[in-house]
Amino acid sequence: MKLPALLLLIVITWCHCDTQSDMDSYRRQVKEMFQHAYDNYLLHAFPHDELAPISCVGVDTWGSFSLTLLDALDTLVVMGNQSEFRRAYQLALQQHLSFNIDTNTSVFEANIRVVGGLLSAHLLSARGGIPVPPGWPCEGPLLSMAESLARRLLPAFDTPTGLPYGSVNLRYGVSPGETPLTCTSCCASYIVEFGVLSRLTGDTVFEDVALRAIHALWNRRSTIGLVGNHINVLTGEWKATDFTVGNFVDSYLEYLVKGGILLRRPELLEMFHDLYQQASRYSKLHDWFVSVNMNTGQISSPYYYALDAYWPGLLSMVGELPQAEKSFIKPYSIWRSLGVLPEMFNIADGKPVAKHEAYHLRPELAESTWYLFRATKNPFYLEVGKAMIHSIQNISRVNCGYATVKNSLTHVLADRMESYFLAETTKYLYLLFDPDNFLNQQDAITHKHVEHLHYDARMLRSGCTVGSTGYILTTEAHPIDTGIIHCCGMKNKPTQVNTCNKRPFSSRLQLSLT
Ligand SMILES: *[C@@H]1O[C@H](CO)[C@@H](O)[C@H](O)[C@H]1NC(C)=O
Ligand SMILES: *[C@@H]1O[C@H](CO)[C@@H](O)[C@H](O)[C@H]1NC(C)=O
Ligand SMILES: *[C@@H]1O[C@H](CO)[C@@H](O)[C@H](O)[C@H]1NC(C)=O
Repeated sequence: MKLPALLLLIVITWCHCDTQSDMDSYRRQVKEMFQHAYDNYLLHAFPHDELAPISCVGVDTWGSFSLTLLDALDTLVVMGNQSEFRRAYQLALQQHLSFNIDTNTSVFEANIRVVGGLLSAHLLSARGGIPVPPGWPCEGPLLSMAESLARRLLPAFDTPTGLPYGSVNLRYGVSPGETPLTCTSCCASYIVEFGVLSRLTGDTVFEDVALRAIHALWNRRSTIGLVGNHINVLTGEWKATDFTVGNFVDSYLEYLVKGGILLRRPELLEMFHDLYQQASRYSKLHDWFVSVNMNTGQISSPYYYALDAYWPGLLSMVGELPQAEKSFIKPYSIWRSLGVLPEMFNIADGKPVAKHEAYHLRPELAESTWYLFRATKNPFYLEVGKAMIHSIQNISRVNCGYATVKNSLTHVLADRMESYFLAETTKYLYLLFDPDNFLNQQDAITHKHVEHLHYDARMLRSGCTVGSTGYILTTEAHPIDTGIIHCCGMKNKPTQVNTCNKRPFSSRLQLSLT
């Protein structure tokens, strides 16, 4: 072998080793981050909802249901900590939560964090080392808990439009003085969790109310095919008319895709496709997607919201990879310059928007990093993940956990650690550095859902396919096994909603649905 070739070989081998040990070391580091937050939560805060990481005490934030524990359960399985999963599972059950609590809670947050967390832990319990009862996955204690909470959310959907109220009292139902104004994503992000509930319990009511709300929004699109971001659930009148792919609209768009894939409902993907076309036409500004007026299509503000950062991940899921990559670089450049992603960033003057400078430990940029790494295998995304881990460690780590950054310019901290830091942020970062994870095998639906749907369609003929047709991650990063939807008998057939709008799909989506 000639000397240059030998050198090259050595360099390549060395790089490979380095990469491998790098992957291991970052994976361990993220696991330790999770444990630091989780252990301190159990020690200082449980059974309260959240840990205040600077004062090291527990606080109830979204409804006094031990939120952080329930939101973090499935992360233990994803990170391979079965013994702790079994312990936490028992801890969750000892709360014997019937959710008969006099507390006003956000219907949206209770669904994505708690119902979603319980359903995912229920579906992952075998993988987590819990002996499953004979009727599983159609029966199980966490499924019962999820169902009883969801039933307490149902009164919110009893409106003339079918759009749910924003809040409900878990014991008494909708409070008499409750405001009828609510956000678009708060109205229409139920189809994944409620779909799973209906398919597992056999009661169609959940899937039906979720679909009804989606159609209620759809029927109120503007003449240019966009929706606003806040609506009156009694009259159906738009109260905030800015369309955006992010803030207050995000998981509506996300659940059209994920619900469509999970429940094999092409009409939902068709809706997404139409909204995406209009969004590309009106709100795309140099690969940012900004707020526009839903009626005129005119740009209303040149702001980027931290929540918008999920969008490249969703685009990769529907196969729009080039656009996803271009739209990813934008928020990442903000993160690079500030070390975090502020709640609102003014693209025009290149600064965080005053009073919206905080970084709430949000997961969306890490989420898109994972989706894009899965889709491209480009090591650039690993470097992004490392940079994010570095800055979270450097800026947010405190004695009892990780603290929200109150100001992205000064890095002053605030005494709050949202439960999604354990459900999502650490999970996505971990997945980036764990190539052998079950969610990184063929079975996570992160891109090329085209093939997956074909695969699904074949598998469906044999009915229940637990563990073999792929996972989707909910908007709170709770993995859902898509193979379960035909495992349990239905009392009634799920509603077949007519699609009012039969425009053709793009060729790519067409492919996926035939
Ligand atoms: C599992 O989690 C517990 C609690 O965080 C921790 O003490 C333990 O070391 C973890 N075990 C493994 C194998 O990760
Ligand atoms: C829930 O909200 C209603 C209406 O605003 C209020 O009257 C009630 O006291 C609240 N309940 C709790 C437990 O905060
Ligand atoms: C913190 O930042 C410094 C310099 O910016 C870097 O060298 C160091 O590795 C970071 N520490 C951690 C724990 O990431």
